[in-house]
Amino acid sequence: MPDRYAVVGNPVAHSKSPQIHAAFAHSTGADMSYERLLAPLDGFVAAVEAFRREGGRGLNVTVPFKVEAFALASLHSSRAQLAGAVNTLMLEPDGRWYGDNTDGAGLVRDLTENLGLELRDRSILVLGAGGAARGILGPLLDGLPRTLAVSNRTHAKAEALAAQFAPLGPIEAIAPEALSGRRFDLVINSTSVGVASEVHDWPSSVFAPGSFAYDLVYADQPTQFVRWAARHGAARTADGLGMLIEQAAESFHLWRGVRPHTAPVFALLRPR
Ligand code: ATR
Repeated sequence: MPDRYAVVGNPVAHSKSPQIHAAFAHSTGADMSYERLLAPLDGFVAAVEAFRREGGRGLNVTVPFKVEAFALASLHSSRAQLAGAVNTLMLEPDGRWYGDNTDGAGLVRDLTENLGLELRDRSILVLGAGGAARGILGPLLDGLPRTLAVSNRTHAKAEALAAQFAPLGPIEAIAPEALSGRRFDLVINSTSVGVASEVHDWPSSVFAPGSFAYDLVYADQPTQFVRWAARHGAARTADGLGMLIEQAAESFHLWRGVRPHTAPVFALLRPR
């Protein structure tokens, strides 16, 4: 019997994770299966336990269950602890779940390895202060930026995040209206909406010459944020497909002990 893995979420039908992990399994010769698991909104724990009883070894967790997955896990990596959310569950030999969060590491790997960006001494702006932002702040600070600013519609949430992460590096909360006049080398959209022209709260003057705009969301077409950024002076843009692939590689590494090559998966999912 191949080892069983799955991605659990609601909705989950659109997830590209099965395709990504099938490619990793093939290239590393792993004997494993990887499926989609649709859990009812009020049935996450029951779905995970049923999967475990049926021989499940590990799970990727997606919207909206990452905080519940944190609560379910008996053991946590330090980065999951910091994020307060879990996107990867691994069954321990004693039957307990180990929870990790590979989102931030996946983002940083995409930025630095695939897109060739330097984080050290750069100024970074994160738009949004929800769960997605919380997952990336620690790994971004590990890259030793000159400053990491967080700006959110609800400023108090940005202030709370900045206070929590302040021991790790130079992080500041900036209210959207106070961003005018500030320029950043890297601007990351972590909000749950694309920045449509009528929705955004942020001044379009945040892009320094040569700056990079990155949207955590991915889509087959350029996202609203990517289009907005390109119009307002971002020199280069990317959506979150690379982060998705790299967080998957990081999860695969945790489960299987080998790090798969990701370049062939880029070619598979976004042929040029
Ligand atoms: P996620 O886990 O995807 O981060 P979340 O925790 O609900 O989801 O956070 C959503 C983020 O998108 C928040 O930063 C939210 O801003 P508020 O804290 O002010 O709610 C942001 N967001 C959602 N809709 C937005 C909009 N229309 N304009 C600006 N920000 C928005």
